[in-house]
Amino acid sequence: MRKPLIVQSLHSKKIPRFPVWLMRQAGRYLREYQEMKEQYSFLELCKTPELAFEVTMQPLRAFPVDAAILFSDILLPAEVLGFRVDFRPGPIVDNPIRQADEVRSLSRHDIAAVLSPVLQTIKMLRAELDGEKALIGFAGAPWTLACYLIDQGPYKHFHGTQIFARSFPNEFETFFAALTDVIREYCVEQARAGADVIQLFDSWGGILSLEDYQRYSLPGIQKIISALNDEGIPNILYVNGSSHLLPALKTAGATAVSVDWRTPLGQAELELGDSIAIQGNFDPTALFDTREGVATGTRAMLEGLKRKTGFIANLGHGVLQATPRENVEEFVNSVHSFSLT
Ligand code: CP3
Repeated sequence: MRKPLIVQSLHSKKIPRFPVWLMRQAGRYLREYQEMKEQYSFLELCKTPELAFEVTMQPLRAFPVDAAILFSDILLPAEVLGFRVDFRPGPIVDNPIRQADEVRSLSRHDIAAVLSPVLQTIKMLRAELDGEKALIGFAGAPWTLACYLIDQGPYKHFHGTQIFARSFPNEFETFFAALTDVIREYCVEQARAGADVIQLFDSWGGILSLEDYQRYSLPGIQKIISALNDEGIPNILYVNGSSHLLPALKTAGATAVSVDWRTPLGQAELELGDSIAIQGNFDPTALFDTREGVATGTRAMLEGLKRKTGFIANLGHGVLQATPRENVEEFVNSVHSFSLT
């Protein structure tokens, strides 16, 4: 049976060192990615299995990371509900929800038809990766997807979505339920196609108060995670800006909670308890430090933990575009050389 280090750590098995990967490890800070982008649009890269496979593998060839994360985007499944999405480079939705009653007439395309290139990419990656490296599939959390599909942009805050949820509770619930269904099925399909782990990105969950998080975001996450747990697929819940949300995240049912750099790891350990694994949480801007600074900072992050398993080293959010490549390498190597034995 395959037992990638990440899966072992997620299950709190004894491990010789912490595993490491980076959110957005494939992307514009890599020269080889920029070269692909000269020839293909972002959506072409996502929707052509051979190209998505190639881009997914780029960071694995560059650094000894412990996982591949499928190259795709959280907005792609929105096409199942009839949304037209483009990237310039951030997501642009041509037909966001403009009137509350539009949620009652959403189309529902066949999930397999829309997302088959993604599932095909996962199968190719599965065949390529050895037993050491985990294959991570992912999806956006329903709340975060709702933010992009209801708000009219620019996407700097999502007051429009918060106001929509308060003003039209029934319509919000209808829409949220439709999103939750699509994402749940999509995640289960990714697991069946060969993903070892699924990460849910609730990138905009942190704009909600604890009470609103429990009302507007958590219920969908719990349904999706419960379906993954039924499939026996370990899962990671990432919520940006979540220091105040840990009591809710503790009840999500996730194998691991991924926190950003504003939550000290000691606080996360204390509040989440021993039975939930933790992922995080190096500040992406700290990768702009000197190489020595990155090495020292990474060690300090790991020394801040009490646990010796149940942890995955990562950033607190995605790699930024201008990040020096050698500092990504330093981060990965610093985690590798932090021995737990
Ligand atoms: O982590 C990886 O390497 C896998 C690929 C991945 C992408 N997007 C590729 C991408 C993943 C996991 C995502 C998730 C995603 N997409 C999230 C959740 C994570 C987060 O950042 O909070 C969100 C909110 C999105 C929506 C999205 N897509 C945004 C905000 C942007 C613009 C980002 C930017 O840096 O300008 C995108 C586009 C996008 N998704 C790019 C990449 C590599 C850049 C597109 C390009 O190359 O032109």
